[in-house]
Amino acid sequence: MRKVFVVLCLALVIATPVFAQGKAEAGTVTIGSAIYKFDDTFMTGVKNAIIAAAAETTDARVDVVDSMNIQATQNEKVDLFITKGLQAMQINPVDRSAAGVIIDKAKKADIPVVFFNREPFAEDMAKWDKIYYVGAKAEESGTMSGQIIVDYWKANKATMDRNGDNVLQYVMLKGEPGHQDAELRTEYSIKCLTDNGIKVEKIAEDTGMWDRVKGQEKMAAFIASQGDKIEAVFANNDDMALGAIEALKAAGYFKDGKFMPVVGVDATAPALQALEEGTLLGTVLNDAVNQGRATFMLSYDLAKGKTPTSASIGYTITDGKYVWVPYQQVTKENYKQFK
Ligand code: GAL
Ligand code: CA
Repeated sequence: MRKVFVVLCLALVIATPVFAQGKAEAGTVTIGSAIYKFDDTFMTGVKNAIIAAAAETTDARVDVVDSMNIQATQNEKVDLFITKGLQAMQINPVDRSAAGVIIDKAKKADIPVVFFNREPFAEDMAKWDKIYYVGAKAEESGTMSGQIIVDYWKANKATMDRNGDNVLQYVMLKGEPGHQDAELRTEYSIKCLTDNGIKVEKIAEDTGMWDRVKGQEKMAAFIASQGDKIEAVFANNDDMALGAIEALKAAGYFKDGKFMPVVGVDATAPALQALEEGTLLGTVLNDAVNQGRATFMLSYDLAKGKTPTSASIGYTITDGKYVWVPYQQVTKENYKQFK
C-alpha cells in the first residue's frame, strides 16, 4: 500500500511541471514566434527587435523558435504553440505558400497570427480577420538599389562602361526563388535603369539563396566565365553582396584602382562596414528594428484580445491587416546615420 502511495506521489511530482508548462502567469500573455531559420543575418536583427520590444512590457513573453528552413518543422512548432494554448503567433513562413494551412489551423484554434517578412498570398490573407502581415514593399528596395547604380553610371560612365558600348553589362545574384523580395528586387532594380534610359545587358544570373558563401561561389563562377565583361553586380541582399566582394577581391578588385560597383539590400552591420571601407557601393535599409517592433506590437494587442489600431501599435495599418515599413537608400553619403 505504502509503495503504491510513494509511486503515486512520485508520479504527481514528475507530472506537475508538464501540466504547468505553457500556462501563463495571471494576466501575462505568451506569444509563439517561429522564424524561418535563425541562421540568417537580417532575420537575426528582426528576432532581436521582437525580443527587445517584448522586454519593454511586463505582461508579455515571446517563445521564439527556429524552423530550421524546413516547412514541416515549422508546422510542428505551430502545432505545439496551439497545443500549449498560446494567445497569439508570429510566423515567418519557410514557404509562403504554406501560410494557408497555418491560417486554417490558427482559425480553428482561435489564435491570431501575424506573418512577417515572407508575405502570404492575398487569398490566404483573406481567410480570416485575425491575420496580419508586417513587411516592406519589395519593389521599393529594387528601385532604390537600381537608383544607386543609375547615379553611379551617370557620374562615372567613362570608367564604368568598360567596353564603351553604351550598355551596362551586369550580373544578378538572386535571393531565394519565389520569395517576393528576390523576385521583385531583381525586376525593379533593372526596371529603374531602363526607366532612366540606360541600356542594359544581363550577362549572368543565379541564386545565392540569401547566403554569403553561396554568393561568393556564384560570383567566382561569373568572374571565371565572364571575366572583364562585368560592369556592375546586383545582389538581392547584403550577405550575397559581401560574398561577391570576397570573390572580386580574390580576382584582384578593390586595389590598384580596380573597382566594381556592387549593391545589396538590408544595411546590415557588416555591409555598413564594407561601405565605409569603400568596397560596397550602396545598399538599402531593410528596417529590422521597426519590422520586429511592429510584429510584436500587433501580436501583443491580439494576444490581449484587442483589435489593433494604427494608434495602439504606433504603425499605420493598411487595408485592415498590413503594416508596411519603408526602405531607405544607403550610400557613403548617409551610411553613418544607420550605424
Ligand atoms: C529579406 C532579406 C534577406 C533575407 C530574407 C529572409 O527581406 O533582405 O536578407 O533575410 O528576407 O526571408
Ligand atoms: Ca558596357
